[in-house]
Amino acid sequence: MTGKRLLLNLFEMGTPTHITHGLWRLPGNDRHRYTDIAYWQELAVALEEGGFDAVFLADVVGAYDVFRGGFDDALREGLQLPNIDPLLVIPVMAAVTKRLGFGVTFSTSYEPPFAFARRMSTLDHLTRGRVGWNVVTSYLPNAARSFGLTEEIPHDERYAIAAEYLDVVYKLWEGSWDDDAVQRDAARGVYTDPAKVRRIDHVGPRFSVAGPHLSEPGPQRTPVIFQATASPVGIALAAQHAELVFTIQWGATVHATVQAFRDAAVAAGRERDSLKVLVQSAVFVAGTEAEARAKLETYRAFRSEIGLFVHTSTVFDPTQHAPSTIVADAVAAEGGDLGAVRPLLRGLTVAEYTAAVDEAWTEEFLAVGDPEQVADRIEHWLDVDDVDGINLRQYHSFDTVRDFARYVTPVLRRRGRLPEADDAEGVTLRERLFGRGPRLPDTHPARRYRGGAHLG
Ligand SMILES: Cc1cc2nc3c(=O)[nH]c(=O)nc-3n(C[C@H](O)[C@H](O)[C@H](O)COP(=O)(O)O)c2cc1C
Repeated sequence: MTGKRLLLNLFEMGTPTHITHGLWRLPGNDRHRYTDIAYWQELAVALEEGGFDAVFLADVVGAYDVFRGGFDDALREGLQLPNIDPLLVIPVMAAVTKRLGFGVTFSTSYEPPFAFARRMSTLDHLTRGRVGWNVVTSYLPNAARSFGLTEEIPHDERYAIAAEYLDVVYKLWEGSWDDDAVQRDAARGVYTDPAKVRRIDHVGPRFSVAGPHLSEPGPQRTPVIFQATASPVGIALAAQHAELVFTIQWGATVHATVQAFRDAAVAAGRERDSLKVLVQSAVFVAGTEAEARAKLETYRAFRSEIGLFVHTSTVFDPTQHAPSTIVADAVAAEGGDLGAVRPLLRGLTVAEYTAAVDEAWTEEFLAVGDPEQVADRIEHWLDVDDVDGINLRQYHSFDTVRDFARYVTPVLRRRGRLPEADDAEGVTLRERLFGRGPRLPDTHPARRYRGGAHLG
């Protein structure tokens, strides 16, 4: 290896439009097949053959209904609605792969921890230890109203719930069952030794869970903990718990952000390298730079600004104002809430606003070119920005993955940035990411419950 190895993730969601607005209309794009089991299996095989470490499955449990005051545009755009449950597609992909990891999003805000803990243990077993959990607290007010609440739980309160939620599931995953609890001793007639399984008797401000955990420990026990965050309370939670963080960055701030995450983990008593940082990136690659640029332009031509406004919960309708109108004036003219517009955007014209929120096409983590150029750019992100890997935006299913696999993976392998194709079966996601054992390191807060210590 000449340098730091790239962690290679695909960003995906079970829906027609995840984050690449309007592109479901691209000729040959298979987004509409997201309800087809064959779609997920073709994708999984392409990822594994292409050297990807994992696929990261996003999820929302509500509709985007701020823009134009309803979810009609979300429906027209296929924007994260309709969608399917991401936990259920994991076994489908696991069945046709041996090494690919799965990061799945699940919110701590609406469904209680006990049943979720069993679902994740189930996935850890069925994938043979290849599963991770992206801990989110959910941000859509519409979701709150579908789970029995009248309004969204305030941001920092959601994170307080998340902290207790994590505590409960750690107790179940790490503390409730000993490694040798299952004995399968036919001669003695003992399947599980009762002395090695215990209740957790968690009683907290929000959750009461007696236990025991219903599943025996999977290969990793606790799935790899992922988090995507930006706020101070979110970073504080990540510092303690996250093993892998996703970030979106614009501008040259990523190096500082990466260091802030690593410093925060150290301050929380963990090793500096116990938290990997992945940045969202976009790659357009072809045999020549000209072809790659042409591909980018084709894709851009299909983008939908309406989809972008829906996704960013824009509180005014830019299509109803002259391009030179100042955003603050447009919001005022519609009687909207200026507080919901980022301060930096308020003084822009409507045309500048649209360009600014459409930054995905010009963002820093964009690589367009031939295979060597793209590999150079990725090496720059690893070495200069100090990220550990990328979470690849998917513009086209399956060309985004196939192009990367065909053009970039061989170059990165040659340069020692990706491992050679291997058949290392039985390697858990945690081992793949950290090169250590399948279980959490001793410095992680979940480990304090091992053997039933600190419970109840
Ligand atoms: C790359 C990335 C992926 C995300 N995926 C999801 C997701 O699938 N579901 C979700 O509810 N939130 C998702 N989020 C939102 C975050 O969980 C979080 O709410 C957001 O980054 C704001 O951070 P904060 O909660 O610390 O304020 C994602 C964020 C990023 C940066």
